[in-house]
Amino acid sequence: MTRAMQSYLSRRAAVLGLASFGIGSAAALCSRSAYADFDLELAPSLRSHSRVSGIKFGCAGAAPSVQPDRILLEKFATEANIFVPETALKWDATEPRPGEFNFGEADSIAAFAARNDMLVHGHTLVWYAAIPPWVSQITTSQEAKAALERHIATQVPRYRSKIWAWDVVNEAIEPEDRLENGYRNSVWLRALGVDYIDLAFRLTRAADPVVPLCLSEYGIEYATAASQRRREALLGLLQTLRDRNTPVDCLALQSHLEAHQILDHRELTSFLRSAVKLGYRLMITEMDVNDVKIRGSEPERDLAVARHAAEYLDIVFSVARPMSIATWGLSDRYTWLRQYYKRSDGTPLRPLPLDTDLNRKPMWASLAKFMAA
Ligand code: XIL
Repeated sequence: MTRAMQSYLSRRAAVLGLASFGIGSAAALCSRSAYADFDLELAPSLRSHSRVSGIKFGCAGAAPSVQPDRILLEKFATEANIFVPETALKWDATEPRPGEFNFGEADSIAAFAARNDMLVHGHTLVWYAAIPPWVSQITTSQEAKAALERHIATQVPRYRSKIWAWDVVNEAIEPEDRLENGYRNSVWLRALGVDYIDLAFRLTRAADPVVPLCLSEYGIEYATAASQRRREALLGLLQTLRDRNTPVDCLALQSHLEAHQILDHRELTSFLRSAVKLGYRLMITEMDVNDVKIRGSEPERDLAVARHAAEYLDIVFSVARPMSIATWGLSDRYTWLRQYYKRSDGTPLRPLPLDTDLNRKPMWASLAKFMAA
């Protein structure tokens, strides 16, 4: 942390009568009326901490050409130095028909990122979802291999040096599918067996020899049987990939959190330690905190979301500093969760760092604390 930042934070803490701007105090901040937008709006942006901490901050969003929300885009450029295409780099967007590529939306994001001194997170090459019909109809290993080769060899070099990391394989495990080792029953697994994962990483490495390559997964945070099964399956896969010398650099922790659930400190810490011991670097790539089951007023809900975010980040940082923190959206104005979850009181979800009017929320303060760590 720079001196200027340190003195800024302690000045704010002093104003609020707090000893430090720590996690505990972030929570205390949230419960005080002094924790007003005025104070938060004056704080340095999330991306400004990167220079010192080395941790990048990103958010997912639509292409500016598709959703030209100028004020939101300004906030993106202020807060983030990584732009995560929410859909623009998925297979159904970039190769809707075999060999027919469409990079319009992804290029719009890359151009916006370049203008604003941001990099792009490559999300994602190989996933069971967001695939066009012709991909879901693939049955033979030859077809699957040819499709992967052409897709990766076309998409990856196009964004060399603009994309700072690729989510090469997304969501490869699903213990509920009841297949061996908890692998997900996807078109890729059916056509190629588990080798598809190794193949995807090798093809991506061949297409860009330096970009960090990530395996991305969700659903490993909680004290539930489902989370435990997912941690076990994922660790097994991470071990298998190391044994095969597959070129995987990072574990992308999606971090779709739920404020009403209980984080499993012990098991999550132990899982992350094992992953780090296997040589994987960590990234937090799709964070949001669902408040669908949190009762109370808006400030109370925002406080619960901020606390949950800080508690989770504290676990991750206690094991290793992630290369980046990215949220899945920046403002509650646009969150994918709204399509899937409705609160019983009918009010909209508040899972992201900025509210619908683009004001910084307590969750923003939790992120700032760790971005400056
Ligand atoms: C979601 C997008 O946010 C939605 O707009 C889209 O309809 C479906 O996909 N995990 C992922 C992301 O890896 O790609 C998903 O994004 C959210 C869950």
